[in-house]
Amino acid sequence: MPAVVLVGAQWGDEGKGKATDLLAEHIDYVVKFNGGNNAGHTVVIGNEKYALHLLPSGILTPGVTPVISNGVVVDLAVLFQELEALNARGIDTSRLRLSANAHIITPYNVTVDKTSERFLGKRAIGTTGRGIGPTYADKINRVGIRVQDLFDESILRQKVEAALVAKNNLLTKVYNRAAIKVDETVAELLSYAERIRPMVADTAFELHEAIEAGKTVLFEGGQATMLDVDHGTYPFVTSSNATAGGASTGSGIGPGLFTTVIAIVKAYTTRVGSGPFPTELFDDNGEFLRATGHEYGTTTGRPRRCGWYDAPIARYSARINGVTDFVLTKLDVLTGLKEIPVCVAYEVDGKRFDEMPVSQSDFHHAKPIYENFPGWSEDISGCRTFDELPKNAQDYVLMLERISGARISAIGVGPAREAIIVRHDMLAGK
Ligand code: GDP
Ligand code: IMO
Ligand code: MG
Repeated sequence: MPAVVLVGAQWGDEGKGKATDLLAEHIDYVVKFNGGNNAGHTVVIGNEKYALHLLPSGILTPGVTPVISNGVVVDLAVLFQELEALNARGIDTSRLRLSANAHIITPYNVTVDKTSERFLGKRAIGTTGRGIGPTYADKINRVGIRVQDLFDESILRQKVEAALVAKNNLLTKVYNRAAIKVDETVAELLSYAERIRPMVADTAFELHEAIEAGKTVLFEGGQATMLDVDHGTYPFVTSSNATAGGASTGSGIGPGLFTTVIAIVKAYTTRVGSGPFPTELFDDNGEFLRATGHEYGTTTGRPRRCGWYDAPIARYSARINGVTDFVLTKLDVLTGLKEIPVCVAYEVDGKRFDEMPVSQSDFHHAKPIYENFPGWSEDISGCRTFDELPKNAQDYVLMLERISGARISAIGVGPAREAIIVRHDMLAGK
C-alpha cells in the first residue's frame, strides 16, 4: 500500500498545497513532517480560497486524518487560530493528531528569530520571523520544549528555565532587549495543555498501524529541496530537512516503507528571502512572471523573486529526493510568451557546469546557459488532457521531462482544484 512522499523541488511555493489537495481524495492520512508555520499553502476549492500554514493541506478533505508528526515545530497559538478559522468555515478538524515528540515554538524563539535577523543586517537570511530556526536550534542543543512537556509542569518549568539562561543573556547583553520571564512563559504554554490533550498521540505508532492496515498515507513536505538545511543553498535555507529523507526521520516511518516520491516543480522558478538564484530575472520578464503568477508570499506577503526554469536544479532534486514523479505546476502562467528560455547548465568563471556545482561560492557566481523554446498564445486553463494542450506547450513539457530526471505525471494549468492534467497514476505504488 502506498506511503507517498510529496516535496517541493525548488525554493518553495511550487503548489504543494494544491497537489496534496488533488491527491487527498485517494488518501487516508496526510502527515506534515517538517517545518512549521513558515509554510504557506494556498488551496482553491470552488469559490473558496484557503491559506494553510501549520496544518497539512489534506485537512480540507473530509475523511482524511491529518497528522502533525515529530519533525514539525508547533506554534500553539497559530495551531488554534488555524483550527478555529477552518471550523468557522465548516471544515471538520476533529481528527487531527499531534506528535507528543514535536517541538514547540515558544514566544522566546520568535523573539530571537526576529532580533537575530535584525542584527544580521545585510547578511540577514530573510526568514519568515516565525521562530523556526531558533526552535530547531534548541532541539539540536537539547534545550527544546516538546509537546509532551506540557503535561508535566515541573519538567516544563525546569526546561524553560534552562533554555532561558542563555537566551536572556543574549537578549539583554548582546541585543539590548528585555529579559523574558520564566513564569509568564510557563503559564502561557500550560494554558494550551488541556486543549491539545485529545489530539496528542504516538503518531509514529499510529502511522505504522495505518500502513500495516493497508491505508494510504501521504507525507507532505513544507518548504523545498533548495531550502533543505543539508541539501539546499546553506545558509540561505530553512532549519529542517524538507527533502524526502526528512519524511522518515520526521515521522518515525522507516525508509523501506515509502513507495513513491512526488516532487512539485513550477514551470519557472521563484524564491522568497535571500540567497543565490542563478535564473533570477530583474527585467520585464520577471515582472511578467510575478504579476501573471501572483507571486507574492502566502505567509509574509513578500514579492517572490522570479526566474526561468532551472533544469540542473530539477535534476538535483530528482537525485536528492529519489523522485518517481514530478507534478509540473503553473504552466498556464507562461502563456503569451513568444519564447521560453530554460536554463540547461551553468557557466562559472568560464567553465561549464552541467550539474549543480559542489561549491556554494561557485553557485553564487553561476550564470545560466539558456536554450530557447517556442511559446504558445492559446489559453490552456481549460485543458484537461495532454492532447488538448497546444503543440508548443506539449513540446515544452516533454522537453522538461527529458532534462529533469523523472516523468511528469501531472500538469497544473490554473489555481483551481480541477485545473490539472493527469498523465500517470502517481499512487499506484512500487
Ligand atoms: P506551496 O507552498 O508549495 O503549497 O505553494 P503556495 O500555495 O505558496 O503557492 C502556489 C500558488 O500557486 C498558490 O497561490 C496556488 O493557488 C497557485 N497554483 C498552484 N498550482 C497552480 C497552477 O497550475 N496554475 C496557477 N496559475 N496557479 C497555481
Ligand atoms: P512553503 O512550504 C518559500 C524561506 C524564507 C527564508 C528561509 C528561512 O510555502 O513552500 P525560515 O522562516 O524558515 O527560517 O526562513 O526560508 N522559506 C520559504 N520560502 N516557501 C516556504 O514554504 C518557505 N518557508 C521558509 O523566506 O528565505
Ligand atoms: Mg508556499
